[in-house]
Amino acid sequence: MDLSQERAGDHPPPPDGRPTNGEARSFDFLVIGSGLAGMHYALRVAEAGEVALITKRRATDSATDWAQGGIAAVMDPRDSFDAHVQDTLNAGAGLCQEDTVRFVVERGPDAIDALRKHGVEFDPPREPAGPDAPPFDLTREGGHTARRILHRHDATGREIERSLLARVRAHPSIHLYEDHCAIDLITATKAGRTGSNRALGAYVLDAATGEVHAYTAPITLLATGGAGKVYLYTSNPDVASGDGMAMAYRAGATLANMEFMQFHPTCLFHPQAKSFLITEAVRGEGGILRRRDGTAFMADYHPMRDLAPRDIVARAIDTELKRTGDDYVALDITAKDPAFVRGRFPMIFERCLRYGIDITREPIPVVPAAHYCCGGVRTDRHGESDLTNLFAAGEVASTGLHGANRLASNSLLEALVYAEAAARESIARRPSVEPPGDVPAWRHGEATPIDEAVVITQNWDEIRRFMWNYVGIVRSDRRLSRAQHRIEMLREEINEYYWDFRVTPELIELRNLATVAELVIRSAAFRKESRGLHYNLDHPERDDEAFGRDTLIQRGDTPWISPS
Ligand code: SIN
Repeated sequence: MDLSQERAGDHPPPPDGRPTNGEARSFDFLVIGSGLAGMHYALRVAEAGEVALITKRRATDSATDWAQGGIAAVMDPRDSFDAHVQDTLNAGAGLCQEDTVRFVVERGPDAIDALRKHGVEFDPPREPAGPDAPPFDLTREGGHTARRILHRHDATGREIERSLLARVRAHPSIHLYEDHCAIDLITATKAGRTGSNRALGAYVLDAATGEVHAYTAPITLLATGGAGKVYLYTSNPDVASGDGMAMAYRAGATLANMEFMQFHPTCLFHPQAKSFLITEAVRGEGGILRRRDGTAFMADYHPMRDLAPRDIVARAIDTELKRTGDDYVALDITAKDPAFVRGRFPMIFERCLRYGIDITREPIPVVPAAHYCCGGVRTDRHGESDLTNLFAAGEVASTGLHGANRLASNSLLEALVYAEAAARESIARRPSVEPPGDVPAWRHGEATPIDEAVVITQNWDEIRRFMWNYVGIVRSDRRLSRAQHRIEMLREEINEYYWDFRVTPELIELRNLATVAELVIRSAAFRKESRGLHYNLDHPERDDEAFGRDTLIQRGDTPWISPS
């Protein structure tokens, strides 16, 4: 067996005899990320062994914690799996894998059950319902033809994070490491079997001590979330720097559909409001998008008006802003009873009031912002990547559910369904997996502490700004080639920095951000058509013949179209 730190970490093998840093720590399962996917998986596999759950800041710093809208599931007898499948396919613009969509949708009721067993509470019906009615308030969001979103007020993710984290903290077999930042995966190649790399764990930086330890386990789950921080404006928390996607790519896994970055149409526009989402459920409950002169505009763009799929609404707002020169459009829910608005959207009501906006009396200024990566690490039905024993679930993964545009509130459902599938497979497989054994310790080599932190912030800002301007809601060949040129220069600079200085969480994130930005640019430049979230002015038509399948990308290769 050839243990390949170089392949895993891109770190040159250290000169012999140099001091190593930090002892290895072995577990049965390694989980990276503390959102819904990571925690559900950890709780399940903890039935079968010792689990390390590492998370780079506090455990609650996750996209799950920020999720407002809710979780889509067919719970009403008037709704159907077929309708949910069809809505998902319609939103996905021809790229969803229909069998995956059905697999996820049909597991919706079980997913809700699992969450309730974890202690998650959903809002009950607002009015007394008939005997067959589900015991939940079901709301609507863009692209859904039925009310099927379960929620907890407008802070569903917080309720999920709170419930699962309490159980994780109390579990004797789950070892939670906060402020621990994964640097790279550790992989091994079996001699003579190319393409059969397997995961052995990860090198992890303890931010408090600066030490790097190898965390090894027969099975690893990436649940690191998305990469919204690649863009200047995003609804995501600061942790969303694409770490899992970048690590998997460097380790040789295949990634899919990285060009399909979803922009949420409605984030609060206010100088002091960083990344504050106004849930699509506001439109689901009757909110209307208006120009600043008060005229509603969505009827000009789609028959579903304000509840059109998200890519259409975001592009419509972008068009309006460019045409009028305005900084924002208005989202108006003032026609609804103020008591209803305060009760249904308490967090949004309070946050907006803090900025001087009473949403029961005046429209909310909103703009689109990067929200969700529809692409990611390509996984199979068990959530396994093409590196053996490396699983991925949640936003980091590309399962085939979302296609070219994710249907609202399908992501928490997908995270749970695939975390469960991965857990079942991991528990079954664990007894037959060869333990990782000894792996090389991380070595700092000649690296010295970072001299100028400004280099990191400068590069970070530069990437986010050109990604926003050149690789945003509307793209063109020229913009993409400018972005490609810039990212190549920056990548070289960041790599030099990475080799010369000791790793810090900021440097690790910057390196990952640059990798993910490059993957998005290269995938977008390759797809010479417009579809779903990828709109290129130079190729405005959809081209099913040439591009009717997933874009795949792997280290050392140019992107290609999936044969199936
Ligand atoms: C929202 O609440 O609008 C976000 C829901 C989602 O992104 O699925």
